[in-house]
Amino acid sequence: MHQDWKTQHIVITGAASGLGRAICARFVILGASVRGIDIDKDQLEEVQAVLGKKFAPEICDVANWDQVVQVFSRFPPADVLVNCAGITGRTNIKSHETDPAEVERVFRVNFFGSYHTSKVVLPQMLSHGYGRLLHIASIAGKEGNAGMIAYSASKAAVIGMTKVQGKEVAGTGVTVNALAPAVIETPMVHALPDQQVKYMTDKIPMGRCGSLDELVAMVEFIVSPGCSFTTGFTFDLTGGRATY
Ligand SMILES: NC(=O)c1ccc[n+]([C@@H]2O[C@H](COP(=O)([O-])OP(=O)(O)OC[C@H]3O[C@@H](n4cnc5c(N)ncnc54)[C@H](O)[C@@H]3O)[C@@H](O)[C@H]2O)c1
Repeated sequence: MHQDWKTQHIVITGAASGLGRAICARFVILGASVRGIDIDKDQLEEVQAVLGKKFAPEICDVANWDQVVQVFSRFPPADVLVNCAGITGRTNIKSHETDPAEVERVFRVNFFGSYHTSKVVLPQMLSHGYGRLLHIASIAGKEGNAGMIAYSASKAAVIGMTKVQGKEVAGTGVTVNALAPAVIETPMVHALPDQQVKYMTDKIPMGRCGSLDELVAMVEFIVSPGCSFTTGFTFDLTGGRATY
């Protein structure tokens, strides 16, 4: 039953922009029913105008547990959840100079957002004996980017969560994995200071950003039925920056 994308219900957070938007577009082309979650109503409507009826937009702040419970209660159970919603917070700033409230804000979206949605979706997947959950982490979570304490530490927390959840559901038909890209050109990257982007791209042996097509191809594989023996793992997408 899960061999065919056309029978699958796929939920993507952060669907209004960048990675999330590109992933939604791929699964709509593959014939799946796609539900795209975001806080940006205008951009979500724009995505729907392009993607059409197979794409259902949902406004939800994933950092807010009550909203996540309420919005997800309106959906059919998800076969696939990809957590893309994320923010960098203020960057190019030393950790001892940051504002604790700002660091907490980034954690609330990047870590708690993915924790909230997975907490709702995992029981549904477990009761169906099938599911693919993918958290978009970052190389920053594996290596730590100087000037990005909130972002790096929250993504490290996502990687830790992936290891825990992946083991907890092993053998059930459900897998939980993460993907750690280096720099993929999106509005999030365009919004960073040039100095911060240079710091990140200078570390990539291939000497370039990754493309959205490269990202989407990996996501499609990781959440496919065929990717069934890998769980709790953080896949690499860094042009050679991370070889572990
Ligand atoms: N672009 C990169 O180079 C890169 C690299 C590594 C990891 N990532 C990760 O990939 C994910 C997507 O990044 P992107 O570059 O596409 O960013 P983006 O800014 O283009 O898109 C992020 C989307 O998340 C949404 N969002 C933010 N807070 C939200 C909330 N509380 N609830 C619901 N939606 C919310 C935004 O409105 C936006 O549409 C992020 O988690 C990011 O950390 C990106």
